[in-house]
Amino acid sequence: MTQDSDVVAAVRCINIKKHYGRGTSRLEVLQNLNMLVPRGTIYGLLGPSGCGKTTLLRCILGRLSMDQGTIWTLGKAPGTRGHGIPGSMVGYMPQETALYEDFTISETLNYFGTIHRMPKDVLKARKAFLISLLDLPSMKSMVGNLSGGQKRRVSFAAALVQSPPLLILDEPTVGVDPLLRMRIWEHLLEFVKDWNTTIILTTHYIEEARQANIKFISSLFYHVLPGRMGGLIISPTMLKINYRD
Ligand SMILES: Nc1ncnc2c1ncn2[C@@H]1O[C@H](COP(=O)(O)OP(=O)(O)O)[C@@H](O)[C@H]1O
Ligand SMILES: [Mg+2]
Repeated sequence: MTQDSDVVAAVRCINIKKHYGRGTSRLEVLQNLNMLVPRGTIYGLLGPSGCGKTTLLRCILGRLSMDQGTIWTLGKAPGTRGHGIPGSMVGYMPQETALYEDFTISETLNYFGTIHRMPKDVLKARKAFLISLLDLPSMKSMVGNLSGGQKRRVSFAAALVQSPPLLILDEPTVGVDPLLRMRIWEHLLEFVKDWNTTIILTTHYIEEARQANIKFISSLFYHVLPGRMGGLIISPTMLKINYRD
């Protein structure tokens, strides 16, 4: 079953509720969250640590069950048979890197490329592109010997390898130097422009989006999740930031 608005919406979240724990340790994390991510946009989730960004991403991926609500990803519920979410239709970069330490970078990308059934020549070209894009060391380097920042970039490459229509990136630019961060942003914008990719990411750095000098998409969207612990309480408002102004 699909809905008409899913022609333009890559992801729709309707009235999502999610809690953890029970009794006195019950924690309401997502409370009636509604969100619409248009296709071919970069959609940023902003909010203080612990406000539920990773939880929401895992619900969108179909990896975490919700208490209430409906999610549509590329027109179908995640986990629908034959849909590809979770699967090849989505590239996911988790907040904590989950890589095999005793694989080389090349073996890591081969592993993910093979899972996604990429033809060998396409995978080879994609690997070369990603190594250059993310300024990674030699393909023969062992993942276990890389720095934290380099491991995050390998994890990023693994999310991008099959050129998925939906990218879900949990804090992709943490541990990345400012110059590389700019380059990554430029490439994310190219994916949107050239392939109509939809990108949902979490970030602490609202400024990094501004620096990206966005010319070719009309807008970026930010969804600010409310903090629970006082201080920064922002209602879950969608701020539309138009970079053509
Ligand atoms: N599996 C879990 N069990 C219990 N509490 C959790 C679990 N995962 C996350 N939490 C709690 O839920 C809240 C939201 O977590 P998270 O979604 O990781 O936030 P964010 O990504 O915005 O930092 C935090 O208070 C976190 O401690
Ligand atoms: Mg998180």
